[in-house]
Amino acid sequence: MPVKTIIEPFRIKSVEPIHHTTREEREKMLRDASYNLFLLKADDVLIDLLTDSGTGAMSTHQWAGIMEGDESYAGSKSFDHFKTSVQEITGFKHVMPTHQGRAAERILFQTMCKPGDIVPNNTHFDTTRANTEFTGAEARDIPCPEARIPSDRSPFKGNMDLAALEALLDQNDRHHIPLVMITVTNNSGGGQPVSMANVRAVSALCKKHGIPFYIDACRFAENSYFIKMREPGYADKTPKQIAQELFSYADGCTMSAKKDGMANIGGFLCTNDDRLAQQEKDLLILTEGYPTYGGLAGRDLEAIATGIQEALDIDYLKYRITSTGYLGNKISEQGVPIVQPPGGHAIYIDAKTFLPHIPVAQFPGVALAAELYLEGGIRSVEIGSLMFAGAAKMELVRLAIPRRVYTQSHIDYVVEIILSVWERRQQIKGMRLTYEAPFLRHFTAKLEPVE
Ligand code: F0G
Repeated sequence: MPVKTIIEPFRIKSVEPIHHTTREEREKMLRDASYNLFLLKADDVLIDLLTDSGTGAMSTHQWAGIMEGDESYAGSKSFDHFKTSVQEITGFKHVMPTHQGRAAERILFQTMCKPGDIVPNNTHFDTTRANTEFTGAEARDIPCPEARIPSDRSPFKGNMDLAALEALLDQNDRHHIPLVMITVTNNSGGGQPVSMANVRAVSALCKKHGIPFYIDACRFAENSYFIKMREPGYADKTPKQIAQELFSYADGCTMSAKKDGMANIGGFLCTNDDRLAQQEKDLLILTEGYPTYGGLAGRDLEAIATGIQEALDIDYLKYRITSTGYLGNKISEQGVPIVQPPGGHAIYIDAKTFLPHIPVAQFPGVALAAELYLEGGIRSVEIGSLMFAGAAKMELVRLAIPRRVYTQSHIDYVVEIILSVWERRQQIKGMRLTYEAPFLRHFTAKLEPVE
């Protein structure tokens, strides 16, 4: 009989203590943070599921690479290692390191977009949207229709709506489209994967219209594993072969190495276009750094060079996707509405269905995230009307799982807390804004419960 239990494929060499707080303490800390979990002290959080970005644990090989880091300003050995590793997976001609994903986005959009342009994406992440809009271009989300139905269990709900893309590209003479982007996995749409068939079709449509096609590659390894598990024809391919094929359809990518780069900081921008690469390197020098370090230390480049390969390890991916699914299945079995099927890096609770008595204008996602903190010191994040204002299509609470950080008993604790909040959901109150910034308001917003 094959063994059914899937275990964490690592043992723990260094530990970081976390500590409990009392409910009274959490009530005070939440009030002091104006009900915005971004404004809490991390030390006051027991299980931090705010993000899977930069919060992962590095391997012994990555830590060894940290010591090997070559800190030369120009032409460092660590850059060669980084570039070779990124190119082996992506195949792109130009690889530019950046301090994180949004820096790659800023450089890409600043180089390619102008006011009035439209950039289609399956769903823009918040920084991708903000960086597009900052150039005066419009960030247009065109996810496949099933992406907007949380309970729908389609295997590739991250797909782009091909008909909507084609209609948009046909009007390219009226609205200039400087590039098309697809986000793998679709973070704001529930961490859902994009199929190879969809990427191939988007690429073909872009080629037909002569429009560059870019991948927002943050979670490319998780997406590759979903393709292996769910898409006919890929079961016998390795995650790396699948990733290589995925990137082969694109003209470039942006990447936050804080996700499937398995590093605590870093990112990169890739392109096959020599002329664009020159402009991008000029901008890189202006604000990030010389093109062989791009705002990172040599040691960071080493951590990414190794991490991006580890992210494609089959045992790791199996554990990663299984453990995220474990959380999702445990709470949904008890009736908690989540975006189905469970995503790669996170579980998204459908707060609108969880709290039907709270109107969208009173931020049900913010209210639920606050309750999870009060109940058990868990930090999550709202992905809904506070984050995206009028552009929000769903009211979600994301529980993002840091890579290689929490064990199954941590997750069992999270399940217990969510279920006790579910029990007393009728008592939860809505929220009202008392302060908001002009953009990316969710990071600094202040709120109070509606009495
Ligand atoms: N694109 C996607 C799909 C992302 O999820 C993120 C970051 C970025 C771009 C930007 O990368 O943070 O390195 O500048 N997502 C994090 C999150 C912050 O919590 O989902 P960055």
